[in-house]
Amino acid sequence: MTIRISGTGSALPEKILINKELEKTVDTSDEWIRERTGIAQRHIAEKETVGSLAAAACAEALKDAGKSAEDVELILVASTSSEMLLPCTAAQVQSAIAAVNAAAFDINAACSGFLFALQTANAYITSGMYKNALVVGSEVLSRIVNWQDRSTCVLFGDGAGAVFVEECSMEGQGVLGMRQGSDGSRGAVLSCRAGHFADAATGQFICNDAFIHMDGSEVYRFAVRTVPECIERTLKDAGLTAQDIDLYILHQANIRIIESIAKRLGVEMGRFAYNLDRVGNTSSAAIPLLLDELNKCGKIKKGSRLVLSGFGAGLTYGACVMRW
Ligand code: ACO
Repeated sequence: MTIRISGTGSALPEKILINKELEKTVDTSDEWIRERTGIAQRHIAEKETVGSLAAAACAEALKDAGKSAEDVELILVASTSSEMLLPCTAAQVQSAIAAVNAAAFDINAACSGFLFALQTANAYITSGMYKNALVVGSEVLSRIVNWQDRSTCVLFGDGAGAVFVEECSMEGQGVLGMRQGSDGSRGAVLSCRAGHFADAATGQFICNDAFIHMDGSEVYRFAVRTVPECIERTLKDAGLTAQDIDLYILHQANIRIIESIAKRLGVEMGRFAYNLDRVGNTSSAAIPLLLDELNKCGKIKKGSRLVLSGFGAGLTYGACVMRW
């Protein structure tokens, strides 16, 4: 037995921030951002929260799957930017959509978070503990970005994507292979302090330097080496080759990373989907956001073979091969 995705949904904040606007606040240019990253704009939350975006994406995914909120048995939210430590975002989503029969908890594996959550859902469902799950990636990274730091503030955006997954016993359908990994020894390469922490000397709660810090070149090198290896091993598990895949849906960090991974796999760029030009890097939301877009516009068809793959802080990485 395995799992299959039977519904997708997404939500983006109303406000759009274009590169030209950033030129007014940091020493950067639209040209630099487009050339080095491929990003032209990103959505920025004003009234939206990690919980409200996640709930909106879940409601859409349920509608797409033709299910009601009472049918949901498990809700997993992947996020690195929840406004609330308690209750977890998944519990907020459960309440917002009235999924009264679901257990709900969060997962933090940065930009690999959605894939880690999908694998967790897979483990629960294939063990027989639950029959289905809502798996969500939701981020409001704009609140943990230092808007004075040009090396990071141009990269990130806000949004959420969700999938409804359920058990699948049809041979050769649904998830065909999944791998995940972590290298905690390299955690300092991409880090962010918790928003509020107690100052040891005064005992007062302070909020200082709670921003994303990133060694961009190190993350870049990690991604272009680790992701193709992970994809190739996952394809091997599924008895497929890189050429058998119709669409690659990778974490949307940087178009140059995607191009480099395509080259290493020996696959033409036409099979690598992207929306980072319009939404930037939305961390754990990136893969389900793109998946929803491709599903809704008909680019993913019944029988399509897909590879999903992500990498991020931790450092973490993962891949999933599936037949739609
Ligand atoms: N505008 C103008 N110049 C800039 C900007 C900017 N926004 N940012 C950096 N620069 C400058 C640098 O200061 C540097 O100047 P210098 O040569 O005078 O020192 C120059 O541009 C080149 O900087 P690099 O860091 O070498 O630029 P690079 O081509 O590597 O691009 C980038 C930087 C886009 C961050 C790239 O390294 C990258 O995409 N890395 C991966 C990031 C990533 O994938 N993150 C995903 C994980 S996120 C998560 O898990 C939450």
